[in-house]
Amino acid sequence: MDEIGIDPVRLKALTVEGRKKIVDSLFAHAGEADAQQTLTDPKGYVAPPLDRIRANEPYLHNGNVPTLWHLMNSDDRPAVWRPVAPRMDEDKVGLTIEQASQIAVSSNDRVFGRSYFDTRKFGKSGDGHRFSDALSKSEKQEVLEYLKTF
Ligand code: HEM
Repeated sequence: MDEIGIDPVRLKALTVEGRKKIVDSLFAHAGEADAQQTLTDPKGYVAPPLDRIRANEPYLHNGNVPTLWHLMNSDDRPAVWRPVAPRMDEDKVGLTIEQASQIAVSSNDRVFGRSYFDTRKFGKSGDGHRFSDALSKSEKQEVLEYLKTF
C-alpha cells in the first residue's frame, strides 16, 4: 500500500475480525471449500487482470480514474469530474468527462451533484498508482495503444 499509494479507506473499512465473521456467514457460502480461501487480513488491493480492461471504466477500486489515458498521465487526473455524452471516449479509453474545479450545484439539486466524482472526498482519493510517471510521453501512449488491444 505504501508503494502504490492509492486510497486505503476501502481496505481499512473492515477489521480482520469483521472479515472472519463474513467468511463464517452465508455471504461467503459458509461450508464450501472456497470460503476457507477468503483473505481475512489482506495487505492491499488485488491487481486485477487487464484483459478487456477497456470495458472496466472507471478505473482503480474506487473508480476515481475515468480513462486509461488518465491512469497513464497521473498529473492530469481530474480532481472533480462527471461523465457526459457520448459515454465512451475511444481515444483515451474510458468515460468521456467534463472536468470542474468544484461541483456546480445548488443545495436543492442533489441528483445533479451526485453525477460528479469528487476525488477530494473521503475514500475517493485520486492519488497513487503512478508507475507510468517513469515513462516518456510517447512510451505512455504506446502502453495505452497496447492496452486497447486487450
Ligand atoms: C505501467 C505499468 C502499469 C500499468 C499500465 C498498469 C495498469 C493498471 C490498470 C489499468 C489498473 C486498473 C484496473 C481496473 O480498474 O480494473 C491497475 C490496477 C492496479 N495495479 Fe497496475 N499497472 C501498472 C503497474 C503496476 C505495478 C508496478 C503494480 C504493483 C507494484 C501495480 C499494481 C496494481 C494494483 C494493486 C491495482 C489495483 C488498484 C485498485 O484497485 O485500486 N500496477 N493497473
